Amino acid sequence: MKHDEHKPPNSRSISRRSFIKGAGALAAASGLVRTPGADAGAATSSGAQEGIVERLGPDAQTIELKINGEVRRVTVEPRETLLRALRDHLNLTGTKLVCDRGACGACTVHLDGKPVTSCMILAIDARGHEITTIEKIRIKGDKTGLFGAFVEHDGAQCGFCTPGMVMSLAAALASNPKANLEDVKRAVAGNICRCGTYPHVFAAALSVARDTRGGGAGES
Ligand code: FES
Ligand code: FES
Repeated sequence: MKHDEHKPPNSRSISRRSFIKGAGALAAASGLVRTPGADAGAATSSGAQEGIVERLGPDAQTIELKINGEVRRVTVEPRETLLRALRDHLNLTGTKLVCDRGACGACTVHLDGKPVTSCMILAIDARGHEITTIEKIRIKGDKTGLFGAFVEHDGAQCGFCTPGMVMSLAAALASNPKANLEDVKRAVAGNICRCGTYPHVFAAALSVARDTRGGGAGES
């Protein structure tokens, strides 16, 4: 059997390679592709603009990310995730790398106040967004009360899942300060704890929520 017999019927007329080349030429001809040098500074300050396909790479690019209220410049390859940018280039190692595929929640950060897994977002796609990491909560003053609650309720064993848990709970409690047990469980549904600290994590989160409610021991 000839090799071509395994291909779909029209694969000889339009191969994947020729399609991509053709699409790239069309975009370039229509002015949709912006090369990094064509608009000095644009790639580092404005982020992707609506209606413009931005071509970055293959070399590393210097971009700006707003992290914990500060604008940080970082040089990353377009393929690098936000998690890698935080840990490997900006020394923000509180955000943990575990599965690197969006399955465990250890790398949870906030993007515009919403919890996201930073291993599933390209660093270049985080431009123009407010990024919050565990360092903001831990080092710049814990306004969430979660750190103290985790200590009080023994919410961490090895601690590897803890930053992700705290970030997920911080976002949930910010939007719903009086969260009950079901709300708390839902908030950390994407956070895996291999040490099995879930009951302690729930207790810690509920103690913060109860404080917000002004007492009510025994509430869930
Ligand atoms: S490291 Fe990102 S979800 Fe597991
Ligand atoms: S405390 Fe060890 S993985 Fe959660």
